[in-house]
Amino acid sequence: MERLKRLFPGTSEVEDGELTVGGVRASDLADEFGTPLLVYCEQTIRAHARAYREAAPDALAVYGAKAFPNVAVMRLLAEEGLGADVSTLGELRFAQRAGVPAERIVVHGNNKSDEELQAAAEAGAAYVVLDSVEELGRAREAGVERMLIRIAPGIEAQTHEAIRTGHAGSKFGVTPVEALGLRDDVEGLHVHIGSQLLSLDDARATVAWLNGFVEQSGWAPEVVDLGGGLGVPTAPGERAPSIEEFVGTLLGELQLQARLVLEPGRSLVGRAGVTIYRVGSVKGRWVAVDGGMSDNPRPQLYGARYTAILASRAEEEPQGTYAVAGKHCESGDVMIDGVGLPQPRRGDLLAVPSTGAYTLGMGSNYNAVLRPAAVLVADGDARVIRRRETVEDLLGLEAPE
Ligand code: LLP
Repeated sequence: MERLKRLFPGTSEVEDGELTVGGVRASDLADEFGTPLLVYCEQTIRAHARAYREAAPDALAVYGAKAFPNVAVMRLLAEEGLGADVSTLGELRFAQRAGVPAERIVVHGNNKSDEELQAAAEAGAAYVVLDSVEELGRAREAGVERMLIRIAPGIEAQTHEAIRTGHAGSKFGVTPVEALGLRDDVEGLHVHIGSQLLSLDDARATVAWLNGFVEQSGWAPEVVDLGGGLGVPTAPGERAPSIEEFVGTLLGELQLQARLVLEPGRSLVGRAGVTIYRVGSVKGRWVAVDGGMSDNPRPQLYGARYTAILASRAEEEPQGTYAVAGKHCESGDVMIDGVGLPQPRRGDLLAVPSTGAYTLGMGSNYNAVLRPAAVLVADGDARVIRRRETVEDLLGLEAPE
């Protein structure tokens, strides 16, 4: 656990051989709320939010809600002065339910419906970020007043290709030339070149491109939205810049006088979340848990690597290398290829750190598996911020008998 501490939420400790987060024992959480369970540490989320606010006090920082759309999390981020980046009607409604002030809501989407544009206008969102030239007319028609234009600058971010967004030919945004055609219609521009960026080079490339673009075009946008993107390590060998370093690089090298917007998602909630599973079948090197690709599809989608500890025996030395599999009906449902653990036994609790972003939010009901609950822990207390699904929830979607 010591070795992996930087992957766990800041309040994580080992007490009497057992993992605690926010002062609550893993076994108490599992007993009270069941497993799998996503445990979010309030203090860690707040610390990340404050790091953004301190690194960029004059910027509007909005939470990329897709990382984990959750009303309680969005509410506490709003308390810290953050807003919300929403990309669908559903995410907009989450932001509104959380009481995120309209002037801190930024509306995205590469295929916004008229209904979504209208909802954005009615909400009085700070900005709607246009993703195509065609969208301008529909946004005006819907009553949208303040717009940004999203540009794909032609930068290949150093990340998995499925989450690169600013390369030439991207499905997102418009070309720099197209954007210039809209300069009199919008307040400014938006650039987001990709997610899970683990190097400062990507931040530097974005800013260098922006500096050049503004200098060459002579356009002085009032607003520049730099997107999100800062990565979070999920496995022992991975490293990421800190929030201070990432934002410092962006702000330090940008040669523009504009209102800045930042849209962090993963770096606010990724490390704040730990998933607790119950070990079931143990067969040679295979350790099966009671969740899998339905609560965290990232290993399958992006080859993401995770690690784990036995939360209930956190001080025991590893005795072997095990593979952690989910309970789904396919061989690809493997969460961790190899992790050193004490010999796992049925009933043990397995904790997978750094699972707060793009896990439950991308979860599914594959095999009619019920998506887990999420709890927020702080100062020895835990409260449910998203309840566990029930079979009735799923059957409720079926044709009546
Ligand atoms: N702004 C825009 C316009 C975005 O498209 C995104 C993420 C963000 C902000 C937040 O980015 P972040 O700070 O979280 O990197 N499902 C993938 C990640 C998809 C990211 C989509 N856009 C994954 O699990 O890695």
